[in-house]
Amino acid sequence: MNGDIRKIAEGLSYLSGFGNEHSSEAVPGALPEGRNSPQRAPLGLYAEQLSGTAFTEPRAHNRRSWLYRIRPSAAHPAFTRADNGTLRSAPFTETVPDPNRLRWSPLPEPAAGTDFLAGLWTLGGNGDATQRSGMAVHLYHANASMDRVFSNADGELLIVPERGGLLLRTEFGMLRVEPAEVALIPRGVRFRVELLDTDSGNGQSPAARGYVCENYGAPFRLPDLGPIGANGLANVRDFRAPVAAYEDVEGPVEVVNKFCGNLWTAVYDHSPLDVVAWHGNHVPYVYDLRRFNVIGSISYDHPDPSIFTVLTSPSDTPGLAGVDFVVFAPRWLVGENTFRPPYFHRNVMSEYMGLVEGAYDAKAEGFVPGGGSLHNMMSAHGPDRETFEKASAAELRPHKVDDGLAFMFETRWPVTLTPHAARAEHLQHGYDDVWQGLERHYRPLH
Ligand SMILES: [Fe+2]
Repeated sequence: MNGDIRKIAEGLSYLSGFGNEHSSEAVPGALPEGRNSPQRAPLGLYAEQLSGTAFTEPRAHNRRSWLYRIRPSAAHPAFTRADNGTLRSAPFTETVPDPNRLRWSPLPEPAAGTDFLAGLWTLGGNGDATQRSGMAVHLYHANASMDRVFSNADGELLIVPERGGLLLRTEFGMLRVEPAEVALIPRGVRFRVELLDTDSGNGQSPAARGYVCENYGAPFRLPDLGPIGANGLANVRDFRAPVAAYEDVEGPVEVVNKFCGNLWTAVYDHSPLDVVAWHGNHVPYVYDLRRFNVIGSISYDHPDPSIFTVLTSPSDTPGLAGVDFVVFAPRWLVGENTFRPPYFHRNVMSEYMGLVEGAYDAKAEGFVPGGGSLHNMMSAHGPDRETFEKASAAELRPHKVDDGLAFMFETRWPVTLTPHAARAEHLQHGYDDVWQGLERHYRPLH
C-alpha cells in the first residue's frame, strides 16, 4: 500500500460537532482545489462522495467524505449471499430477553486460518439494523490476516482489541490499533484487518482477540461536557485519522458486504482500497484509551459512570444514548467517608462490560480479559461480597486504581442474546454466587 503508517492526521475536531473536516493525499496534487467534483478530477481519478448521514442533517451532525479513487465504487459485479458464520444482527429474536446477570469466559481458540471477519462472534444486541437503531455486541478471535475486504452498510464498528495489534487497511489509509486503543470504522467504509503480532509467544498460533460494538444508530461522537468545561474526558486532539494510502492492484479481490444483517460477497477485478486522496469528516480513527482524562470526586461519593463516557451515540431523547462507550481507566480514588468501588445499582440502561487487561475493581475473580458480563436493564448488581467487605473496611487513603482497563457498552435497550451466546460452553454458571454471602448487618438501635 502506497503511504506511510507512521504519519497521522491531526485530531478529528468534527467529533465535537462543529463539522470541521480533514484532508489527505497520498500523491501530491490528487486533491482538487476549490470544488468537490470538477469536470475532470486530478490525475485521472474519479470523484465519489460517501455519505455517513442524510444530506440534510444539521451541519453539526452532518458526515460525508469525498474520495478521489482509481476506479469508482460503482464498478463492481453483483453480490451473492455468503455464509454469516457466527455473525448475527438486529433484530435479535431467536432467544427470549434474559433478566439474569450473565458472564462469559473468553472465546475458545479459533480454527486455523480464521480471519477477523470469520472470527466475529455475536453475543447479542438490540434495535433493528434496517431501522438504524440499536447496537450489537460482537467478540472476535482471529489467527490469520484477511486477504479480503469488508464493509458494513448496517452501522459503524468500534473495535476494542484485547489481545494482539491490528493493522486496518482502509479506504482512507492505514490505522494501527493495539490493546488499550480503540478504532472506529464508519458505516460503509471498506477495510481489511491484518494481524500485527505473528507469534503469541506460547507456541500457539498468532492470535488477535477483542470486542466490537456495532452501532446502528447515530454515529458516535464526543459527549457534551457541561459544567466540566472546555477540556476533559476524551480530548478531540487525541483522535487520529489516517493519511491517504492506496492499493493499485489489478486482479481478483473478494469484497464482503454486510447488508441488513447478512453477508454478501463479490469478486472485484481490482482492489477497492484505491483512494488516492480524500477530504471530509466521515473518516476512520483510532483513540488511545490511556489518553482519557478521568474525572472523579475529590470530596465524597462515587460519581455515576457516565463521567467515564468516551463516545456517545445520541438518540432523539436528549441525554438518552442509543449506546455509550465508557472506559474505566486508571485513576486515583480519594473520596472521604465513601464506599469507593462501584455502588450497588439497578439501571434503566443495559450494560455489557469487557476487560482489556488486568482486573476490575468491583470483582475479585471470574471477570477476566477477553471475557465479559451482561447486566440487562433493572438487573441488580454491583461489587461482589469480597470486594464489598474489603472496601467497607479499607483505610481511606488516596488510592490509585491502575491494575486494569475495563470498558462498557451501555445501551438504552436490553441486549437479547444470540442462541450461540445463550448456549456457549464459555458461558459461566453460578455467576449469581458472587453476590451470595452478603451478610445481614442491620442492627436496629432499639
Ligand atoms: Fe452496572
